[in-house]
Amino acid sequence: MVAVERVESLANSGIISIPKEYIRPKEELESINDVFLEEKKEDGPQVPTIDLQDIESEDQIIREKCIEELKKAALDWGVMHLINHGIPVELMERVKKTGEEFFGLDVEEKEKYANDQATGKIQGYGSKLANNASGQLEWEDYFFHLVYPEDKRDLSLWPKTPTDYIEATSEYAKCLRLLATKVFKALSIGLGLEPDRLEKEVGGLEELLLQMKINYYPKCPQPELALGVEAHTDVSALTFILHNMVPGLQLFYGGKWITAKCVPDSIVMHIGDTLEILSNGKYKSILHRGLVNKEKVRISWAVFCEPPKEKIVLKPLPEMVSVESPAKFPPRTFAQHLAHKLFRKEQEELVSEKKEQEELVTEKKEQEVLVTEKKDQVCV
Ligand SMILES: [Fe+2]
Repeated sequence: MVAVERVESLANSGIISIPKEYIRPKEELESINDVFLEEKKEDGPQVPTIDLQDIESEDQIIREKCIEELKKAALDWGVMHLINHGIPVELMERVKKTGEEFFGLDVEEKEKYANDQATGKIQGYGSKLANNASGQLEWEDYFFHLVYPEDKRDLSLWPKTPTDYIEATSEYAKCLRLLATKVFKALSIGLGLEPDRLEKEVGGLEELLLQMKINYYPKCPQPELALGVEAHTDVSALTFILHNMVPGLQLFYGGKWITAKCVPDSIVMHIGDTLEILSNGKYKSILHRGLVNKEKVRISWAVFCEPPKEKIVLKPLPEMVSVESPAKFPPRTFAQHLAHKLFRKEQEELVSEKKEQEELVTEKKEQEVLVTEKKDQVCV
């Protein structure tokens, strides 16, 4: 296995400038600002907060009002802060505490859990590997593992320290699975479908996979030059996120990057590509990214609810397609969707690399002209 430099080790090495692989392309740098100042901004659009207290109310009018709010946020933003979601705050605190304690271990200790992407061992402790010619990297380390269904877990890969990690994470996964069902129901009703339809379409209790990724963003000496996670949309059906109240998440909404505020005891929920495809683009899978900062370590706990890779062909549901609203997405399995996204990204990177090379050549030519002109001036 090739040794991978952990961002945490790099951050702790005392560097004052970051290696060039972490520096974003110059077009992107223009939009990266101080995340603490960005979070304080009160003007402009804000990520909606949805109260789920009444999602299963016996009073039809009250229940429908709650479902309508959730639907509106899914249609407009595709991301929201969920409050009164039914998951005990103490349990969320236990999950966060155990994750923080694991990441508090020495890097050497965490390396015992290292993944090995080259051999397909994707679960475990890892960092992004450069997968393109520019070698672009992100300012984060992570821990990734499947948490539900329970019979598909590999507990031997889960952190043994701290001792409460397995119990707290297992309990949290069970609660999230129940929450996912409630949300799928409400979103199905929101599209005029049978309540259990969306959940069935993504694999139901047996096949829908919940995968947890703990993202660890060390303090960064030059946060204005880097990103913790580059801009992307989630491929999942739904993603549920906890964080340690350090801002970082930005959403691309209305042509601008909007910084999500930290809402105590909330869970951030994303609609992912899978639901965007099934709903034929009605529910949005929003482009988002993660900023880093100089002062505080940021940690987030994302749980991706994903359909099985090969068993299901994802395409807009027939009820979502009409003459006025033709299918926006071709049929693809989840694996094909992933491959398509990767291919498209590689093409875009090729184009931007070519553009950069051309710009470099133009700059070089301009400099040569300048030098010749100067020489000419000297000759005169
Ligand atoms: Fe994401």
